[in-house]
Amino acid sequence: MMKPEDLRSHRWFGGDELRNFSHRARSRQLGFNPEEHLGKPVIGILNTWSDINPCHMHLRERAEQVKRGVWQAGGFPLEFPVATLSETYQKPTPMLYRNLLAMETEEILRSYPIDGAVLMGGCDKSTPALLMGAASAGLPAIFVPAGPMLKGHWRNEILGSGTDMWKYWDDKRAGLIGDAEMSELERGLARSPGTCMTMGTASTMTSAAEVLGMTLPGAASIPAVDSAHHRMAAASGARVVEMVWENLTISQVLDKRAYSDAITTVLALGGSTNAVIHLIAMAGRSQIPLSIEDFDAIARQVPVLANVRPGGDFLMEDFYYAGGLPGLLSRLTDLLHTDRVTVTGKTLGELLAVARVHNDDVIRTRDNPVAAEGGVAVLRGNLAPSGAVIKHIAAEPHLLTHTGPAVVFDNYSDLKKRINDPGLGITEDSVLVLRGSGPLGGPGMPEYGMLPIPDHLLAKGVRDMVRISDARMSGTSYGACVLHVAPESFVGGPLALVRDGDLITLDVPARRLHLEVDDAELDARRALWEPPAPPFERGYGSLYAKHITQADEGCDFDFLAKAGANPEPDAR
Ligand code: FES
Ligand code: MG
Repeated sequence: MMKPEDLRSHRWFGGDELRNFSHRARSRQLGFNPEEHLGKPVIGILNTWSDINPCHMHLRERAEQVKRGVWQAGGFPLEFPVATLSETYQKPTPMLYRNLLAMETEEILRSYPIDGAVLMGGCDKSTPALLMGAASAGLPAIFVPAGPMLKGHWRNEILGSGTDMWKYWDDKRAGLIGDAEMSELERGLARSPGTCMTMGTASTMTSAAEVLGMTLPGAASIPAVDSAHHRMAAASGARVVEMVWENLTISQVLDKRAYSDAITTVLALGGSTNAVIHLIAMAGRSQIPLSIEDFDAIARQVPVLANVRPGGDFLMEDFYYAGGLPGLLSRLTDLLHTDRVTVTGKTLGELLAVARVHNDDVIRTRDNPVAAEGGVAVLRGNLAPSGAVIKHIAAEPHLLTHTGPAVVFDNYSDLKKRINDPGLGITEDSVLVLRGSGPLGGPGMPEYGMLPIPDHLLAKGVRDMVRISDARMSGTSYGACVLHVAPESFVGGPLALVRDGDLITLDVPARRLHLEVDDAELDARRALWEPPAPPFERGYGSLYAKHITQADEGCDFDFLAKAGANPEPDAR
């Protein structure tokens, strides 16, 4: 057990030096009496709330419930506003800024008198960012997921954010619905604070955080506006104070087994392909080697049990009522490492022993899964020497083995300009190729990977085609979309060499992605290839461009992913 003199914050507030006096004087300025904070663990609450982030709009208030728990447990809460990553508004993509929030998280925790951290986030990249920074900082830390929003409603239909937006947008383009319907949909699609309530990247990553052991049990499934969410926030604040006294640091929670379990869980959820990139980056912060092959290997053993859109029928609110993540995990204990410690101080197995499933349709049994195999396949071939991924359970099965002629777009604006050009002769057998959309080319690997189906094919009823890119795809998207092709075209990956009419073979059962062009011809094309100009001349973007790694390596900055000393600051 730690004693008050052992606290990291004691170096600021204890002692008899001028600086210690000054720190105490400034605490009086903050309005606190000595007995309110001296000798207590300082809990830094890192809050990604912002007026512009609908997924986190409740976190300003929720931080008050965290503080309530911290005070009650004898801690001293201090809230730190940190960068908000809003999937809906931030351009070109918040992925460009995931590592910026990770850096901010690490350095806030390092430079202030903080003994333990509460990390508040949930909108897509904010979860990996906060956990990456906290892992590098190494303090005791607990994650408070923002929680999914309530189900969407429209004319007695249940709507899923993201997923149904794509669906009805296609209906509008096909002329099936008009402006009146769209204006109603606009009001019904997202109707409460919270993250997307499909199994998009947000719920995929908050669930990963939970199984990693970084949240209280069940935390990731609680709807943002449920009273249980308030109670979870308060209990998380109380628990992190105990974690400080127990010196239960993040490195004791996050080990190789935890990451293997996170992959298992993401796959059983039918979760977002973005998890592949984020989990590799997160594990890298703990110096745990994780590769895209780990996903493929585990995928072959893990059934999809969560019947949640876009791969299934229900939404996160239903998943919560059905028993939530603990319910699902209780059906997978033979595939998990249940003797790992979690932030609760209990093992995962102890937590799951009391978990139950209340609806076998929403959380399927092992002998009646949504899909027998996990939702991510890793492809290799001459078009993706460092790999590519496809969420094959969200694709039309007949496309999973397909050869067709390429129609190539150099970047997203080229795609937007020409996708409906009849002169391209696109048929349902064509393979749509988008390049210039990777970590550097995007930049930030925007979620362009679900390339739009041309209008004339939509009108014919075509809803899926083979699409290939170095981009990512929203976790709420679907279709035969090959993503994360590495290396990306911007750095000269083979995607840069594809020409219109080249035949491309996708063979998911064989895990193969092949450009049917011989090596001599590819070499000749490579000799003609010229690298594009760097995307940024100054600013954060130029730092990003110098240090970003490729998709198969997690898109972290090389200098953040590596091990090495980063000394504690001298608090004098
Ligand atoms: Fe924030 Fe989907 S937009 S979670
Ligand atoms: Mg998303």
